[in-house]
Amino acid sequence: MTETNTGTETTTDGETADVLVVGSGIAGCSAALAAAREGADVLLLTKATKPDDASTDWAQGGISTTRGDPQSLKRDIVDASDGTADPDAVDALVETADDAVEDVLVDTLEVGFDESDDGSFDYTREAAHSDYRILHVDAATGTHILRPFLNHLDDHERIEVRQDTAALELITAEGRVHGVVSDERSSGKPIYAGATILATGGIGALYGRSTNPADATGDGIAMAALAGADVEDMEYVQFHPTAYAGEDPFLLSEALRGEGAVLRNGDGERFMDEYHPQGDLAPRDVVARAVETERAETGEVVLDVGPLEFEVDYPGIAAKCRDRGIEGEKIPVAPCEHFLCGGVDVDKEGRTSLDRLYAVGECARTGVHGANRLASTSLLEGLVWGLRAGEDATGFDPEPVEAPELRNRDPDLPERFAAEKFTRLTQTMDEYLGLERNPEEIARASAVLRRLKGEVDAYIRTRTARDLYELRNASVTALLIARAAGENTESVGCHYVATDPDESTAEPPADD
Ligand code: SIN
Repeated sequence: MTETNTGTETTTDGETADVLVVGSGIAGCSAALAAAREGADVLLLTKATKPDDASTDWAQGGISTTRGDPQSLKRDIVDASDGTADPDAVDALVETADDAVEDVLVDTLEVGFDESDDGSFDYTREAAHSDYRILHVDAATGTHILRPFLNHLDDHERIEVRQDTAALELITAEGRVHGVVSDERSSGKPIYAGATILATGGIGALYGRSTNPADATGDGIAMAALAGADVEDMEYVQFHPTAYAGEDPFLLSEALRGEGAVLRNGDGERFMDEYHPQGDLAPRDVVARAVETERAETGEVVLDVGPLEFEVDYPGIAAKCRDRGIEGEKIPVAPCEHFLCGGVDVDKEGRTSLDRLYAVGECARTGVHGANRLASTSLLEGLVWGLRAGEDATGFDPEPVEAPELRNRDPDLPERFAAEKFTRLTQTMDEYLGLERNPEEIARASAVLRRLKGEVDAYIRTRTARDLYELRNASVTALLIARAAGENTESVGCHYVATDPDESTAEPPADD
């Protein structure tokens, strides 16, 4: 053990893997599979203890294919993004989408996608898609993909999946990433890797209402940013328009509207045609703001599932409604944090700006989503970029450089420290960095978040508690969002800047 000139203790006493993947959603699983197929020994770390700790398991609508027409899907992705998606990144997605779905999901995992009576796939549609091209298993697609995927990796001789293990810090030397320090021992355990792939998912825990699992604390984004990696588009936080409006929100998939469900305001009237030519199937950012406006003006918005065979075709969502005591066909809805379109900036192979560090899935910013993501492209992006990154990340030898040995000198936190700071953080994000922002409120949020991060940093230097690192990661990620939101004064996609604080949350209805 040595002491560096910053006073941080270091160690080289750890384990090694050819490829280290952090995160166990579809992107991490795909990366692990691709690296193992190339002959690499893969260690996949996940802080999850069960599949439904990953957002993938919660994904409802489905996974988009191109159905043989990549240019049509590309047009829809670019249009939904308000013209901001990177066309080259979208090409990289659509050109390999169908092969990736067929290879991994259909042939390898044998996912039982819904079929029509004639045995062909029963494709569904969601908002802003011009065609029926989404593969699904009723509206519980993520579960039906992730569980066989994890089983497949468990049986793979080159892959070890280690649960309930969090990565706390990246190990870096001279611009290269050499692995992570995990929380497997109290002073942190170095795990060295030829290449490290972050697949840590989203940021839902930063907001009071989210469709993500509770541990979506932006870990990969924060670790990468702290190590000096470039992050981009952090202001583009997507809110899903239709989550249950009550306590403990849950998603009401866009597939419901794709198949005929409609939004109604508190006067019982349909309203989306007044906001956008695509009506109820307008891009997600437009619908979310319209729902918020109608809720403010008429008291509530409901999703009317009367036109559907709701109980038969969507048993999982119907069961959630019953659990909450929601009766009848009109389900109260409100927007809810759903997906971060930005993240760690990567190229087409998932390479970040740091050598041998990759990022895939929601923690990565590929450019595909621009300022607003098209429905059912997140599982697809995770699959495609996971495969590309896993393949590219092989062939490097682990180099056991000195790693930070974390301090755990004063393990007991003041009771409820992390929980209380987390509450302050989520209140700040909800109030100032939600569906609508304005420059004054963004500045106020930045000030609060900077103070909060300072308090957390003081504790991090002396303790390795996982909840403290999650709080550190959430506060770093929140600050990145605030900074990006402050720097972008233009309303685009899901970054809506109201210059007048009294301004409505949505564009005025087209006819007014
Ligand atoms: C949904 O089912 O509405 C969500 C799908 C997605 O976020 O892509």
